Amino acid sequence: MNILVVGGGGREHAIAYSLSKSPLTKKLMVAPGNPGIETFAECYPIPADDIDGQCKLAKDMKADIVFIGPEIPLVLGLKDKLSEIGINAFGPSKEAAQLEGSKTFSRNFCKRHNIPQPNFKYCSDLKTAKDQIELLNGYCVVKADGLAAGKGVVVCDTVNEAIEASTQMLEESKFGDAGKLILIEERITGIEASVFAVSDGNTAILLGTAQDHKRAYDNDQGPNTGGMGAISPAPALNEELNKNIFNNIIMPTINGMRSDGIPYEGILYAGVMLTDQGPKVIEFNCRFGDPETQVVLPRLSTDLVEIVHNTVTHNLENASVNLINNTAITVVIASKGYPGTFKKGIELPSLNKFDKQDDILIFHSGTAKNENENLISSGGRVLSVTAIGENVQDCRQKAYNTVEEINWDRGFYRRDIGKV
Ligand code: AMP
Ligand code: GLY
Repeated sequence: MNILVVGGGGREHAIAYSLSKSPLTKKLMVAPGNPGIETFAECYPIPADDIDGQCKLAKDMKADIVFIGPEIPLVLGLKDKLSEIGINAFGPSKEAAQLEGSKTFSRNFCKRHNIPQPNFKYCSDLKTAKDQIELLNGYCVVKADGLAAGKGVVVCDTVNEAIEASTQMLEESKFGDAGKLILIEERITGIEASVFAVSDGNTAILLGTAQDHKRAYDNDQGPNTGGMGAISPAPALNEELNKNIFNNIIMPTINGMRSDGIPYEGILYAGVMLTDQGPKVIEFNCRFGDPETQVVLPRLSTDLVEIVHNTVTHNLENASVNLINNTAITVVIASKGYPGTFKKGIELPSLNKFDKQDDILIFHSGTAKNENENLISSGGRVLSVTAIGENVQDCRQKAYNTVEEINWDRGFYRRDIGKV
């Protein structure tokens, strides 16, 4: 099969790497890709959100399947546009991607289908927001409705904090149109975990679990980031909780979307909080997580192309997914200053010497090449260093040994990924 992967970060590197190992892959293309991916796949410099450009590439290169990595092209309707020209895409339609693209859509959907979640109220004016904030004594979470690159969520302790966050979103357009409508949610507590399932619209299968480390610094200090590292399986989950989440969150979502006339196909990522009353949905994402993919896919022993093919042909019913009974940890090396301002274009050490290790995978998140063909940084998160091992301790040792050997003094990383 000719497969095109849309995207160019660490997640897409991990996706492309898994697809490249399948005997079913004839030609592997990635757009835009990155220098790590181009060592084993053809890369085309087309941005992930250039919907017309991606459709043209898929058609010109005779792609049989397009695997859409990031949320933006999904929310912009890339899958629908590809369907119009007769190309199968792995990922939800524009309408179904609203589960991630609109927090009010997703909260209303869960309410309608009795899927456990925090109480919420949506507000388009400050007066309604203030009333709700006072009702919750300021102990609440203020969220912009639309996509805000993970930044449109403010977890509040006091009435003043919550009013300030609501004012910035509703009256000062801090997140543009994404914050014209906001949600004020009950603040719930518990351990968080990411659960990944794949669905063809009818059946769903659990693909794996992970725990993301979102804060920038050790011991969960500092600002929120896209994710500074991850571990799979999620240490807080077990067989029983996985079943609970599958039966009470994943399947009701897939069934609810189908009965609402918006069948959900592709990856469903449920961000859950394990509360005293059981798991509740914090958010849904309509794609794989970054950096969670860098720990979930290396544990997969089932052929990823088979899973993707069974999904787009609505044949998951008779399929199964197997994971290796091991652990994976990924440590993100980020540019100093991230998630605030940071410099790009800084040279990185050569990574060639790590190529031959089976239990270490270095995924490129934000890298490019300069005019001398040397590797440079091009983003906040630069590399994800994944180690696969028998247990957490073994993985941590291998991952951190590699990070120290890379020794990039213009970057920083958390030292407590996977620490229990
Ligand atoms: P989100 O972008 O919706 O995943 O939110 C980012 C982070 O905010 C989550 O990972 C949680 O730590 C926190 N959060 C979001 N909603 C809630 C809530 N209702 N109660 C407590 N924490 C929340
Ligand atoms: N690591 C969080 C996400 O991918 O949304």
